[in-house]
Amino acid sequence: MGQKRLFGLKNHSFFTFSTRFYPLITAFSIKKESHFNTTVTYVQLRCQFIKRTFRETRSPMSFKKISVNIIAALFICFVLIQFIRPTISHPSGTGDIQAPVQVKAILQRACYDCHSNQTDLRWYDQIQPVYWQVAAHVKAGRKGLNFSDWKSMAKPDQQAKLWEAVNQIAEGAMPIKSYAMVHPSAKVSAADLQVLKAYLLTMVNNKPADTSKTNALEKQYLQQQNPHPATPLPTALNGITYIPDYKNWQPISTTDRFDNGTMRVIFGNDVAVKAIKDGHINPWPNGTIFAKVAWDKLSDKDGNTKTGAFKQVEYMIKDDQKYASTKGWGFARFKTPKMVPYGKTVMFATECINCHRPMKDNDFVFTEPLKF
Ligand code: HEC
Ligand code: HEC
Repeated sequence: MGQKRLFGLKNHSFFTFSTRFYPLITAFSIKKESHFNTTVTYVQLRCQFIKRTFRETRSPMSFKKISVNIIAALFICFVLIQFIRPTISHPSGTGDIQAPVQVKAILQRACYDCHSNQTDLRWYDQIQPVYWQVAAHVKAGRKGLNFSDWKSMAKPDQQAKLWEAVNQIAEGAMPIKSYAMVHPSAKVSAADLQVLKAYLLTMVNNKPADTSKTNALEKQYLQQQNPHPATPLPTALNGITYIPDYKNWQPISTTDRFDNGTMRVIFGNDVAVKAIKDGHINPWPNGTIFAKVAWDKLSDKDGNTKTGAFKQVEYMIKDDQKYASTKGWGFARFKTPKMVPYGKTVMFATECINCHRPMKDNDFVFTEPLKF
């Protein structure tokens, strides 16, 4: 045919050149990326226009034709990706949370899709590429908090998780915004939040003058009279060493946790104090250190409260480079007057950053410095 053309050009005064662009899918890959414990899977398609020059007389391909080609190619991809599906399993779990009907109803409609084994997806959740996102959320959500495995958690852990849940809702971080937008029934109203808070309070024993707390204070006092011989300073698994100097820092805020009967003071080092003075606290400068100290809250029958035994001190150390994997903050927690480093593996800091995540627009810091 080429031959014929070449030699059959008598009718034409000269060759006609036409250039066409063909959309061609030249690369197709599935990529996974991890942000904290969420894995996002997405498909990358590279579409290139292949330029071809024809030596002939036909008219160049019209814009309309090119558009049709692109749409057809996208449609084929859309159909193909429907078949690449991560599985969402529904194991039975160790035992569902037992809570009043009202409480459970809120959790079920707002949280269970991602935080239980009873994931119930709507049809529009099942279409790719949305489904990838949903499956990643379910996986990461179940890992952090699974109401279907509630029974295997110790009581204090259940209480801590519930407090974290209430906190995440109050900060507007849960349920995930993109999900709540397409699942209007998942929205948690202010009244719902009150129901959850009230339930959480029933789990707490905030009795005045708790004798065990008074005893703990007494014991601690006696220990301080007979201190242990000096030992090297304890170090957390991520290499952060206990910093005794926090006692000389400036208090920058104080909080009271309603659910677990503790009182806290947050201290800041010189860098933190200077940053507050200069108004440079979002982001906080490198070198900032916070120490949050918690004591038992002791209340007497007249309703007066004071600090009881020392519970723990927690640090957040700002260093963009060193702690890049936990958003620029190094976390450490030391418990009891013996300063036992918290955490079974170096991954303990993931738990810290996850709970601080609702404050991501505030450099992951909850504390609003006190105004004097
Ligand atoms: C669309 C899925 C989805 C829904 C719905 C959802 N979450 Fe989450 N949740 C996640 C994911 C994913 C994470 C992991 C952290 C992240 O990526 O933000 C998470 C993390 C959490 C955590 C931190 C767990 C940890 O790692 O310690 C808590 C607490 C939490 N969610 C509570 C809730 C509550 C309470 C609700 C209902 C009001 C809810 N979530 C609804 C997906 C969801
Ligand atoms: C259950 C949620 C949760 C977890 C888990 C958590 N934090 Fe926090 N953290 C908070 C809240 C809420 C505050 C605000 C002060 C308060 O309420 O006492 C805070 C405040 C702090 C502060 C004072 C600076 C600030 O952000 O206000 C430090 C330091 C701190 N946390 C360290 C840690 C460390 C270290 C860990 C992990 C070992 C950790 N946190 C885990 C919720 C959490």
